[in-house]
Parts: sequence; structure tokens; C-alpha cells
Amino acid sequence: MGTPADDLKRWIPGLLATWRGLRREVRRGPRPPDDRLLPDELREVAAAVQRLSLGLTRDRKLIGARYLEDDRLLGAYLLFYWPVSYLQARGVLSELPRRPRSALDLGSGPGPVAFASLDAGAAEVVAADRSARALAAARRLATEMGEPIATREWDPQRRGDLSGLAGGRKLDLVTLGHVVNELFPGEGAAERRAGLLEQALDLLAPGGSLVVIEPALRETSRALLEVRDLLVARGVAVRAPCLFRGACPARVRPTDWCHAERPVDPPPLVEEIARRAGLRKEAVKMSYLVLAPKGEGWREPPPGLVFRIVSEPLPSKGRLRYMGCGPEGRKGLALQEKDVTQRNRAFEHLLRGDVVGIATVEPRGDGLRLSPESDVRVIAAAGRPVT
Ligand SMILES: C[S@@+](CC[C@H](N)C(=O)[O-])C[C@H]1O[C@@H](n2cnc3c(N)ncnc32)[C@H](O)[C@@H]1O
Repeated sequence: MGTPADDLKRWIPGLLATWRGLRREVRRGPRPPDDRLLPDELREVAAAVQRLSLGLTRDRKLIGARYLEDDRLLGAYLLFYWPVSYLQARGVLSELPRRPRSALDLGSGPGPVAFASLDAGAAEVVAADRSARALAAARRLATEMGEPIATREWDPQRRGDLSGLAGGRKLDLVTLGHVVNELFPGEGAAERRAGLLEQALDLLAPGGSLVVIEPALRETSRALLEVRDLLVARGVAVRAPCLFRGACPARVRPTDWCHAERPVDPPPLVEEIARRAGLRKEAVKMSYLVLAPKGEGWREPPPGLVFRIVSEPLPSKGRLRYMGCGPEGRKGLALQEKDVTQRNRAFEHLLRGDVVGIATVEPRGDGLRLSPESDVRVIAAAGRPVT
């Protein structure tokens, strides 16, 4: 297992070969490069990425549609969204308390999260989705790469039961990448999604994890937080990112939400497609939850005053602020420039997702103010387990 960005480089030729196989264009002349697109290919992919981006993240008209049955859109997914989902999944799987062996990926599409699980140490993975074409692309990619993958057709809106997918065994890991927001749209969505996640939790072996990743959009993030709150109220423990055991404080104000970011750049192929499609470069941002099997309680947080940083740095007139969320709830944390000392200097370099211990602070408004005497230490960097 290398770094996620290095491991991803290995997949690019396989993704391109799978995409060219889908495209079925007979091309004369020399073989096209195996790490980038030719100009006419780039034009075609960028146009399809624009359609996907509009339908999945802006007007959201593709939600509920079988968009991966369209080869152009499936191809665009493979070359643009697959690498991003892979990096997101690796950025969350690195937080698991232990390396998974057996995994099930629900709503897998062409398998970015499933293959990320293999690269994160899983020995076997089943990818399940309602799109037969997406599953065929996952199998083709697996053949290109010499990786093992089993696929199953699955649609929880038609048939609720999940137990057949695991072959009666308990699993170390169940993942759902960017699929929960597409399921059960309309009234009662949160309740039905929570019900599905409860079924998924029943598939876990002791110490296993259920990982849910959703787009870093306010609407989908808040919908995930609503599902979180239903599950937490039923006794489900969150392993990450939450340290707060009550109802999510980011739901109090309708403008708040919660997302993570990992400091890793997508590969040049993705950047090139983004540029051509006129999209912002996709940073690795997502909303996510890692849930513990039923009956396994919350982990004790590290002693002292502890927060996960849930905002970017918020500098203003001589002071630096972040929002932190910890066992005490969600609070603003502020340090004046004039109060920076050796003891609190780490505050200036915190990243969204870091878990920090802070000693000696005073309440200020609805937040906390650090002083020259405050100690700041990073307990777990973003993407590392808090143990
Ligand atoms: C945005 S893609 C996510 C693919 C992949 N998991 C990822 O993280 O990139 C959403 C996936 O959910 C699947 N999906 C949507 N509705 C579904 C349903 N009712 N049953 C099963 N899969 C569904 C789609 O076919 C698609 O593969």
C-alpha cells in the first residue's frame, strides 16, 4: 500500500483502457497513449462530464435516473469521478481502527470505492449496484488491473434485503460512496436511508466499520447529518468524524453543514478534463461517516479539551479562527496574532479534519479564546484514526 495519490497513478491506464473499450471506436494509426486522452477524446469526455456535473451536483436532474446505462456518461464517470471517489475513499479508509479483510461496496458504480478498499488492504470485495453496465465496467477494469472483484446486481428500492450480498458472512467493511443521496428521494427519505444503513450495520463483524461518503454539497451533507442523528438516537456510535455524541450541532442553523477535505491533488488526467469542461479543479472534499456495529459504543475521546477542526482557517483583523467540534459541541476557537507563542503555534497550521487538544482557554462569546499560555497539540492529523 502506497500513498493514495501514488496508488491512483497505477489505475489511470486501466481506466483509460476500460473507457476506450466502452467507446468501441476503431482507430487507425499508432496506439493512443495509456496515460492521457487524445484531443478528440478529451473533447468528448469533457462534454459528458459537463452533463454529469450539471445533473449530479447542480440541477440534480440525473438523481434517480439510470445515468450509468449511458456509455458516454459511464465513460465520463470512469475518467473524472472515479479517481476523485477513489481518493475520497482512501482518505476515509485511512481512519479505520483496523485494516479490513472482507468488504462490500453498495452503489459501487464502476467500483472506485471497492477498489480503494482493496488498495487499503481488503483481500476480497463484492461490488453491488443496480446498473449492470457499471458493474460490467468494474469487472473489465478488474481484468485490466489483475484485481479480484465480484459483482452483484442490487437495488434497495426494489428489494430491501441485504443479507444475500454477504453470502451469510459477517464483513469487516461495508461502504456506500455517493449513493445514499440518490436513494429513496422524497418524503421519509431520512428514515428509509437510516433503515438501509441499519441493515448494513447488521452485516458487520465485531470491530468492523460502515463507511458512508457523500458529496460535499450543503443539501447532501445536511441530509446525511439528519440520517446520522436518527442512527445516533437509536444507539449507533460514530467512529469518525464526530466526537460529539448528541444531535449534530451543525444542523441547528440551516446554513451550516459539515464536510472534510484531504490535502491531495487529483491526477493530471482529472485536472485536464476539469479545465476542458470549465469546472473548478475537484479538490478531495466530501461529507462522510464511519459508523460502528450495533452494540459497540462510542470510543472514549482523548482526555482534556478536544476538538475536530471543521472549518478552513478563518483569518480576520489580527486573529485566526476555526470552528471546532468536540465532545463539548461546536465552538469557535480564536487566537490573536499578538498571543502566538511557542506553546500555541500549532494553531496557525491546523487543517480541516485535524483533531487537536487545547489546554488553558477562556470562554469568549459563544466560543473559546486562546491565550499565550494555551497549549495546542495535534492528536490526530486529518485522515488518521483518533486512538
Ligand atoms: C454517484 S454514483 C457513485 C459510484 C461510486 N460508489 C462512487 O463513489 O463514485 C451513484 C451510484 O448509485 C447507484 N444507484 C443509484 N440508485 C440506485 C438504486 N436504487 N439501487 C442501486 N444502486 C443505485 C448508481 O447506479 C451509481 O452507480
